[in-house]
Amino acid sequence: MTLIIDDQISQFGIEVEEKKIHGNETELGFGAGFLVPHTNSFGHNFRDYEADSERQEGVENFYRINHVNQTYDFVKRMREEYWRLNRMEMSIWECCELLNDVVDDSDPDLDEPQIQHLLQTAEAIRKDYPNEDWLHLTALIHDLGKVLLLPSFGGLPQWAVVGDTFPVGCAFDESIVHHKYFKENPDYLNSVYNTKYGAYSEGCGLNNVMMSWGHDDYMYLVAQENGTTLPSPALFIIRYHSFYALHKAGAYKHLMNEEDKENLKWLLIFNKYDLYSKSKETVDVQNVKPYYLSLIDKYFPAKLRW
Ligand SMILES: [Fe+2]
Ligand SMILES: [Fe+2]
Repeated sequence: MTLIIDDQISQFGIEVEEKKIHGNETELGFGAGFLVPHTNSFGHNFRDYEADSERQEGVENFYRINHVNQTYDFVKRMREEYWRLNRMEMSIWECCELLNDVVDDSDPDLDEPQIQHLLQTAEAIRKDYPNEDWLHLTALIHDLGKVLLLPSFGGLPQWAVVGDTFPVGCAFDESIVHHKYFKENPDYLNSVYNTKYGAYSEGCGLNNVMMSWGHDDYMYLVAQENGTTLPSPALFIIRYHSFYALHKAGAYKHLMNEEDKENLKWLLIFNKYDLYSKSKETVDVQNVKPYYLSLIDKYFPAKLRW
């Protein structure tokens, strides 16, 4: 393993470690390295940055490291490693509780347990779409992949778990936040990967496209490999909920197939709740737990491999 720690910067009283990783995936068994105040995954908050230049620097630094390291090869190795699902056996609900141990530095509501974000999103959708029980459950589980930050899941650094996601293996679209940092990504100059289609073809379907590695793709793998019976739009929401270049800028539509276009409608609905369910009233966990346990029972096996 070669772990090169480039430098350490102290910003805003927070130690930010910058790490570049070379070699195979087992190299990632170090503790979550980055303390980043915020990311663009909560899109509307970006508008506050003018009033908060310190936070902006933290976000920029986060995306610089993210954009340099998320290569086609990196994603391939991460997928191969985590596809093994050999880290833990637990139920969906146990994972919801486990997520409370996770600190996502990109989350503006650091004081609030993660389970509250999950339940607030789910309950808000349940109120407006009472008959779409699959969508309630999708909301509950959409961020469970953040367990990747925990040591028992490899303790991945924040840049490999949270933040906006984007396709790798083809040109990085200009609409991706802090696009300029892709110039330092090895794929940027690789003629196999730096064209409009790169490793893909028109209408090939996003299913066949490698996305930058993070909690979205990991939870998608977990759900799929454990044989969930959730419908196609649910898996689409899980895998692409941080793919802001697609749902905010409409980029990469040339890679979508007909099913993706249908599923995108649900993602756009979901996304409103993911963003704005923050800072709402606390959900009484014990009160709603039986309902969500019944959904988990309907769509998942009792224990999943993680
Ligand atoms: Fe998320
Ligand atoms: Fe979320």
